[in-house]
Amino acid sequence: MPETLAAPPGPGALRACLSRFATGVTVVTFADADGGPRGATMNSFTSVSTDPPLVLISVARRARSHDLLTGRPFCVNILGAEQEPLARQFAGSPGATEPRWVTGARVPRLVSPLGWMECAPWRAYDGGDHTLLVGRVTGIGHRDGDALTYAWSRFGTAAEPADGIEHLI
Ligand SMILES: Cc1cc2nc3c(=O)[nH]c(=O)nc-3n(C[C@H](O)[C@H](O)[C@H](O)COP(=O)(O)O)c2cc1C
Repeated sequence: MPETLAAPPGPGALRACLSRFATGVTVVTFADADGGPRGATMNSFTSVSTDPPLVLISVARRARSHDLLTGRPFCVNILGAEQEPLARQFAGSPGATEPRWVTGARVPRLVSPLGWMECAPWRAYDGGDHTLLVGRVTGIGHRDGDALTYAWSRFGTAAEPADGIEHLI
């Protein structure tokens, strides 16, 4: 592959390059217009700030979830290694599994993700054919377990280290 391009990369070439970036996998959950629980699989999740606590997701403008998420509370559910069916379920393959929802949560969220962050809307920014949504974290939880990953357009796993991470923090 050339190191520089005379023209901007096409979507296929850009995706091929981006697919080499390994990420975790989240399901972003939120309420639909009737208050019912909804979700969409997203790996464009990143931490932004600890003070105030801010995180970012990038939502396709054409996604049905776009308008339900913009300016609204949401929850980022980080998936564990065994939760690939949830990733498929919320990426347009309904029937992959039956999602279980936490009852009585302020913002809809899944039962037992590897980690979760409930967010209040903070800012929204133009991101071309996506909108960048920054949320202020209003609640968190996590458990032990291996992580679900996404690289090379495939799901994979990352094992939890035996000594955990608490000693690093
Ligand atoms: C691994 C993976 C990561 C994804 N990440 C994103 C993302 O960051 N942002 C996004 O808008 N869509 C992302 N998608 C696509 C959405 O999950 C998919 O379009 C979904 O059907 C959207 O549902 P909706 O149209 O009901 O909102 C991803 C899909 C997969 C499989």
